[in-house]
Amino acid sequence: MAILEVKDLSFSYPDKSILHRISFSINRGDFLCVVGTNGTGKSTLLKLILNRLRPTEGSIRLFGTDSSQFRSFSKIAYVSQKATSFNKDFPATVEEIVSLGLYSQKGLFKRYNAEDKEKVYNALDRVGMAGYARNKIGNLSGGQQQRVFIAKALAASPDIIFLDEPTVGIDIKAVDSICCLLGELNAGGITIVMVTHDISSVIYHSNKVLILSEDGSGELLSSQEFTSRSFVNLHHHHH
Ligand SMILES: Nc1ncnc2c1ncn2[C@@H]1O[C@H](COP(=O)(O)OP(=O)(O)OP(=O)(O)O)[C@@H](O)[C@H]1O
Ligand SMILES: [Mg+2]
Repeated sequence: MAILEVKDLSFSYPDKSILHRISFSINRGDFLCVVGTNGTGKSTLLKLILNRLRPTEGSIRLFGTDSSQFRSFSKIAYVSQKATSFNKDFPATVEEIVSLGLYSQKGLFKRYNAEDKEKVYNALDRVGMAGYARNKIGNLSGGQQQRVFIAKALAASPDIIFLDEPTVGIDIKAVDSICCLLGELNAGGITIVMVTHDISSVIYHSNKVLILSEDGSGELLSSQEFTSRSFVNLHHHHH
């Protein structure tokens, strides 16, 4: 069964047309990379899927339900493009940040209990950050911070994780290790949708690539097709 189905999706901001008749679907266990030059609408596409924006035309179905009606929020998790851009003195600890990932499940005012703590430490363990639970988030490296935000996404045991450029601003070794981590999570059964400019690091872990173009169109390829068209080098650039 397709867990995400996008059909004839078009979207315009009031002054600008962005996406034009995009269609693709992904199944449980897929690892989709979304690529395209700056401004082609990659972040906008994720926001549409997550119902933070409404399509101008077309439809988006998550687990068979129209995204505007979708309420099973614990099935999905989102790591936003600017997740790690906060003040270095931001007072939260790693454990506190990851526990925020449980709120869609619990509601804001439930107490953080031993069971929650176990979920938080499990998630930190899966990203190799269990030893940092008490650290201040601002004291970690960019790559470590991204791992913490991935742990936050994992805390509620989602079926699918959406990540918007989780490898921006970190060195190439950290990029490769985040991509490996995502590959492992995917091998463990989590479906992944990832916007990235680091396609050459992640292509070996992914199985599908959606290419957004400046004319608003989108094309879905298998990762093999993508590699054989050797888009990897053409599209590989950093901000
Ligand atoms: N709230 C908004 N109102 C109007 N225009 C917007 C808004 N948000 C984004 N845009 C414009 O829509 C286009 C697509 O933006 P989007 O952030 O989806 O691109 P992107 O592919 O994620 O780019 P990047 O690679 O830089 O992250 C851009 O031209 C952007 O300036
Ligand atoms: Mg973006």
